[in-house]
Amino acid sequence: MDQLQKIDKKKLPRHIAIIMDGNGRWAKQKEEERIFGHHEGVKSVKDVVEGCAELGVQYLTLYAFSTENWNRPKEEVDGLMELLVRTIHAETPTLSKNNIRLQAIGDLESLPNNCNKELQEAIRNTSGNTNMTLVLALSYSSRWEIGQAAKNIALQVQRGLLTATEVNEKTVTDHLGTGMLGIPDPELLIRTSGERRVSNFLLWQIAYAEFYFTDTLWPEFRKPDLYSAILDYQSRERRFGLTSEQISSSK
Ligand code: FPP
Repeated sequence: MDQLQKIDKKKLPRHIAIIMDGNGRWAKQKEEERIFGHHEGVKSVKDVVEGCAELGVQYLTLYAFSTENWNRPKEEVDGLMELLVRTIHAETPTLSKNNIRLQAIGDLESLPNNCNKELQEAIRNTSGNTNMTLVLALSYSSRWEIGQAAKNIALQVQRGLLTATEVNEKTVTDHLGTGMLGIPDPELLIRTSGERRVSNFLLWQIAYAEFYFTDTLWPEFRKPDLYSAILDYQSRERRFGLTSEQISSSK
């Protein structure tokens, strides 16, 4: 039986989040410029989006550009923004054909104008699609997102729309970029390239996520690797603070 057939479709993670890492190292191995790795990374993006949609995963969030990535050499940042614009433009019809909705989280206003414009257009054009939601984290960092949520909650209190004692976990969740779009917490977080860090990604939302780390560099991560990650996830017992016995008796 191959990997795909072993996947239990009834126990799929509803939301998978991925830290796509290793494009630069992959390019270096090939004695190419870093941007070459990002271009190849787009092929992995397409394959993994298709793989998730075929399986029936409802949400896929990709860490495409972090707040910290702005500090990379200008040439690489410009190349990445151009690649984003071109990819979003070229792939929106395919997203629609597959009934996939595009969404984005992060400080989108800090993106170059043409990039944010292309993104907003793609979000609008795919807004009625219902098969899967693809979320791009762009100019995103979790601490920035939590800071924004804190500020917006404080503003609501200041305006008398909410009292300080009413603020709870749900208030924070609802004011995050994900919460405002109705995106549930990820059950599975994948990071490629052998790094075992969370790097300021969805810190609040991954409270109960299963982590899957692989040495595979992102440009080489394709559907079979996605299937391995899901199978690994399905082999784990998710206890949410309960005991193993409590979980078994509630089944
Ligand atoms: C990490 O590899 C990758 C990024 C910072 C960018 C990811 C972007 C893409 C795959 C292309 C655009 C994506 C979409 C969704 C259209 P790295 O450069 O940090 O690699 P390294 O750690 O080996 O240097």
